[in-house]
Amino acid sequence: MNNCVVGLQWGDEGKGKVVDILAENADVVVRYGGGANAGHTVITGDTKFALHLMPSGAVREKTNCVIANGVVVDPGTLIDEINGLADKNISMEGRLFISENAHMVLDYHKQEDQLREASLGKNKIGTTARGIGPCYADKTGRSYAIRMADLLDLDALKEKLAKIVAYKNKLFGALYDAEPVDGDAIYAKCCRHSEVLAKFITNTTQYLHESIDAGKNLLFEGAQGALLDLDHGTFPFVTSSNASALGLGPGCGVPAQKVDRFIGVVKAYTTRVGAGPFPAEQDNEIGNTIRVKGNEFGTTTGRPRRCGWFDAVAVSFTARLGGINEIAMMHLDTLAGLGELKVCKAYQINSKETTFFPGSAADLEAAECVYDTLPGWDEDLTAVTTYDALPDNVKNYIAAIEKIVGIPVSIVGVGPKRGQAIFRD
Ligand code: IMP
Repeated sequence: MNNCVVGLQWGDEGKGKVVDILAENADVVVRYGGGANAGHTVITGDTKFALHLMPSGAVREKTNCVIANGVVVDPGTLIDEINGLADKNISMEGRLFISENAHMVLDYHKQEDQLREASLGKNKIGTTARGIGPCYADKTGRSYAIRMADLLDLDALKEKLAKIVAYKNKLFGALYDAEPVDGDAIYAKCCRHSEVLAKFITNTTQYLHESIDAGKNLLFEGAQGALLDLDHGTFPFVTSSNASALGLGPGCGVPAQKVDRFIGVVKAYTTRVGAGPFPAEQDNEIGNTIRVKGNEFGTTTGRPRRCGWFDAVAVSFTARLGGINEIAMMHLDTLAGLGELKVCKAYQINSKETTFFPGSAADLEAAECVYDTLPGWDEDLTAVTTYDALPDNVKNYIAAIEKIVGIPVSIVGVGPKRGQAIFRD
């Protein structure tokens, strides 16, 4: 059985926990997009893991982990994660496979990300400053790209880097009056990274197809959320990869037909980090309460997340985009004690009501939510272990969302720990 887990909102839905649970039955867990902009928190027993690049399956020692071609790899961050896992007695030896064709995030990408954002002032995107956009731009631009395979031929890399760094320095100097980047220091770092990572670099597309042919169970782990998808999200306030389930094929060379179940992860409300439209946002006491109760602060940047009601218009759209079969709804415990709850069931845009998520940025900016109001609950859900034992108002809330989105909720999250997830069947 091959599963794919993707976020259906603006990221941070709790995919890491769902992947961690499903990884118990997976032989291989695959990251196919994004980079160290992602942040997954996995809690096993009393140990908390904050992973950015490594698939969440890494914490299970019997699971092999693939970082496929669609990921942009910051080698320093990846090595920190390998070492961090080793400190907790989890070894990646022989079970980490990094695509030779994955592009590499280097210091000048991070610098460019920061310089560009600073130059944009109030029009900035609010990126994670991890160099994601500039690295993907070099990938599509082709001429100045460095891939993981380049760590396997350091002499050739030296030559390539010299050309690229000269180009970047001209650019940064002219555009931002920035200090020159030190090419020798970047090359020296690459040499150190090569020593650690070379043995993991391989043809992951071949590995994945051989694993499928051998009948292994694969678990594909999306990064960010579908509303941040470069082509189908809330452009330009998106990330630079296909963060929806549509990114699977290009991101790892495995077609969607090979996936048995697409599981879309949502929070029982909505959050967003960074700038951009957010029709159901509650920039008020409700939003503040959700932020504090749900600990809605970024795993990667620590930034407070913007919080709002569940947006069923947005999730209906992203579920369709991804061919989603079932939904995992996380953080239901966070909504306890909030009083009446609202679910956005349509948008009012320039006096017209629509239930389809708008494609135009101007329409989305103009969208006002049409809400259903539902009774809330006060009960603490964190110790509930079966669906039947959930309070009626929780079940009604889930049913109301299922009715609008048209997809069953099969997993319910009632707390951050592994055990705090209820499987409906
Ligand atoms: P970038 O991916 O760093 O370029 O950031 C682009 C936008 O995506 C910003 O609004 C970020 O806050 C958002 N973003 C990127 N990665 C994540 C994530 O893992 N969770 C939530 N938002 C993210």
